[in-house]
Amino acid sequence: TEITWSLEASEKGGYDHFMLKEIFEQPKAINDTLKANIEIDLTDKEIEDISRIHIVACGTSWHAGLVGKAIIEQELRIPVEVEVASEFRYKNPIVTDKDLVILISQSGETADTLAGLREAKKHGAKAIGIINVVGSTISREADGTFYTNAGPEIGVASTKAFVAQLTALYKFTAFLGRKRGMSQERADYILDGVAQLPSKVEAILDEAEHIKNKKEMFVGVNSTMFIGRGINTAIALEGALKLKEISYIHAEGYASGELKHGPIALIDDMCPTVAIATKSAVYEKTKSNIEEVRARSGEVLTIATVGDAEAKNYSSEVIFVPEVDELFSPVINVIPLQILSYYVAVDRGVDVDKPRNLAKSVTVE
Ligand code: AGP
Repeated sequence: TEITWSLEASEKGGYDHFMLKEIFEQPKAINDTLKANIEIDLTDKEIEDISRIHIVACGTSWHAGLVGKAIIEQELRIPVEVEVASEFRYKNPIVTDKDLVILISQSGETADTLAGLREAKKHGAKAIGIINVVGSTISREADGTFYTNAGPEIGVASTKAFVAQLTALYKFTAFLGRKRGMSQERADYILDGVAQLPSKVEAILDEAEHIKNKKEMFVGVNSTMFIGRGINTAIALEGALKLKEISYIHAEGYASGELKHGPIALIDDMCPTVAIATKSAVYEKTKSNIEEVRARSGEVLTIATVGDAEAKNYSSEVIFVPEVDELFSPVINVIPLQILSYYVAVDRGVDVDKPRNLAKSVTVE
């Protein structure tokens, strides 16, 4: 057992769990994915003719798709539908040969996403994969694949593959943009913005111990709320999924503005809220959502931008993250949520790398 332990420990690079190791590998995953070539046999004409994009995925990869929608619609003004694969495959989707379908999958083996690919091709659409496993079934059947070079992801809860998927989506947007009238300057701005993220992620990883201390807010609670706005609504959903799938605490992700339409009835001193309130065009709105929660004796852990002097006044706790253009903020804002979920789960003594009832790749319906 001594030898087994040391082998396993070396595989984990000295970290207690694969998930923690993978959280700390994210700067490298972003850099390695950014460097990846895009070998996708879409002709320039096919790219010019794209009238609609469908992003089809499951779970965390679906959350990446939601961020992708915000990026592509902002930068390319092409309408994007984001569908969970288990719905897309059965809905006789409205897909034409002028549509591009993007399948996002870490494993490249998810049964629903593979079925989504086949459904898309039945409708004559071009299907592109954003996949982490080379040679996986989805990558073999897609018309082209943009590999996320995150390296093997062992922890069931996806972390580095997720930020690698976001990296691929920024790069793919610049790639499509340059063939649809986007200026070289704007394409460079996007790629440079992503290139600066690894060092900002490192800065957050350096604060892991500080973030770990925020876990006290979640000890003994049965339910939590995660809220965000705009491009960060998807990160609220992702933060909620991370917490629930590894700590088994119920967590719900919501658009901040939606709280008053029902969910706020859940808020009390046993239902803490994690609020993403980094610098953005809707900062003031999110701040008032947080105040609504506090007025109902709900504790709030706010993810705020370094230098935000107000955050401490209206929050129970604050985690500060480096300032970035809102466009890139999902990559920054998800990091503290991953670290927080990890330490809450460890505190609860559960198997963080292999949560109950979950598989790393869901190859059945
Ligand atoms: C992510 O933390 C989950 N383990 C799960 O939602 C996963 O994202 C989903 O099953 C999709 O897997 P895929 O990316 O391999 O297709």
